[in-house]
Amino acid sequence: MVIDMFKFNKYIAGIAITAIASISLTACNGSENSGARDNNVDISTDAEFLEFPNGFLWGSATSAYQVEGAWDVGGRGYTNWDLYTQQLNMANGETGNVAIDQYHRYKDDIKLMAEAGLKSYRFSIAWSRIYPTGMPFVTDELGQPVLDSSGNLQPIPPNAEGVAHYSDLIDELIKNDIEPVVTLFHWDIPVGLWAAGSFNNRFVVDMFAAYSEAVFRNYGDRVSKWITMNEPFVNATMIEGIMAVMMEEMAAGGETSLDAMMAMMKDLPLQRLYGLQMSYIHHYLLAHARAVEIQRNLEASGDIIEGDIGISFDLGVAKPVSDSDADKQATALYNALKNDWFVFPITRGYYPAEPLARLRADGYDFNFSEQVLADDLAYIVEQGLDFTGVNYYTRVAVSADVTDGDFGGNASPMNGNLWDAAYVHYVTEYPNSENGIYDPQGFYETLMYIDNEIGGKPVLITENGGGYRVEDKLTNDGKVHDTLRTRFIKGHIKATWQAINDGANVIGYTAWSLFDNFEWFNGYNGRFGMIYIDYENDLKRYPKDSYYWYADTIEKNGVDND
Ligand code: NOJ
Repeated sequence: MVIDMFKFNKYIAGIAITAIASISLTACNGSENSGARDNNVDISTDAEFLEFPNGFLWGSATSAYQVEGAWDVGGRGYTNWDLYTQQLNMANGETGNVAIDQYHRYKDDIKLMAEAGLKSYRFSIAWSRIYPTGMPFVTDELGQPVLDSSGNLQPIPPNAEGVAHYSDLIDELIKNDIEPVVTLFHWDIPVGLWAAGSFNNRFVVDMFAAYSEAVFRNYGDRVSKWITMNEPFVNATMIEGIMAVMMEEMAAGGETSLDAMMAMMKDLPLQRLYGLQMSYIHHYLLAHARAVEIQRNLEASGDIIEGDIGISFDLGVAKPVSDSDADKQATALYNALKNDWFVFPITRGYYPAEPLARLRADGYDFNFSEQVLADDLAYIVEQGLDFTGVNYYTRVAVSADVTDGDFGGNASPMNGNLWDAAYVHYVTEYPNSENGIYDPQGFYETLMYIDNEIGGKPVLITENGGGYRVEDKLTNDGKVHDTLRTRFIKGHIKATWQAINDGANVIGYTAWSLFDNFEWFNGYNGRFGMIYIDYENDLKRYPKDSYYWYADTIEKNGVDND
């Protein structure tokens, strides 16, 4: 690759994967400390304590590449993220090779979970540990299928060491009364499948289905909560979409100097990321539906225990910068693309009309026929889901006029313009923090949106948390006083209470994350944990103040209404 990935990486490190890209605006607006803004939800009771329903699932989440390490242990295959970090230097020279070594330290980590009283632990399975090439049949060193003498594929069993690892992890959780919540895909794909186009390629959906089946068959005797895919928006547009744009620019012979690349990224309209990734997103949703069907069939045949299966969307209902009709319309366009685009295919069987028409008018389309699209959508809506996972960190404001609000004329994928019709304003809350604006009110509205859209089926909050590395300082007494994180989590738990009070069927809250870990392009610079990891000293774990606060919340099953 011609560009200097190190400098490029520093540039895109401004992307809080969570919170969507701010890119250059992290620097411009980062100084704006919005702590003065409230954005808290009005709580409709004077009661001093906000109690949650019995059985409310208080949990915490991680994902395989971010915590496991052991990248070449136990027969694990090479993945796209090994490539991005080891070869393309996409994370400031940092990698998930060791991460926080949870692969080896899971028993100690589960002790910390048990001590906090966690009711659930959401983790992801690395596809590359189950099928190292991603494919359930014999391949050669080039990753190509080796056929038998009759010309047939030769099936292989899943990798025993990989299977055993998660089996042990699940057993240890259950032994500690912690419910395993298993994510099938959290962005780490075996590299051969990535090189074959990843989810742009329909073949990958079949491979994912085979992998899912192996996971269900091996753990479905003990696991009853499944999440198919994580954050379709961020993965498809902000990660793989940016990769796709880079590839497209290079293939077109465009200038690939660092300056040219940076200028391009800065002016990258969000719709281009969607345009290039239309098939990717669609196949992501199709893969979800395939896993749902397989899980239900295995359940019906008695091969696995009864369970629930859903998907973790990264949702956020944006707000207009003013009450003007023009700003409201711009916001509706943005919300249709950011939320409805991913939810409607599953709940209604179609993509929202306006963004679809606009993408097509721009010359973008799916890489398959109208008939295939119609058949797929009918299938996706038929499979549906049992519950919806919601990941939420912040919300953006939208205006019809580029000069309004915080925007200030800068552009970048999420801080930019959509068809010159909607301008997105993303502002980081503190300099050097991963999070955007603290906005529990936005969370409340998002929960109400999805509850309404899935018609009362359960909503499980699968991620919410504070990336405030700015305050994560280990003091001499081994403590970390992370007041911003506690404020963040408390404000969002209160918003959750209000949503439940107003009729939303929210069944659990999962904090991101119990541990500091590998925050994608931000590497170990991004800290979201309630447990501090001392990367300089053998990855020692130090519970932060927020950990103790959360443990107390779980014990009391609620929060003070102050
Ligand atoms: C979104 C992702 O699912 C997770 O992997 C990431 O670390 C957090 N949010 C924080 O950015």
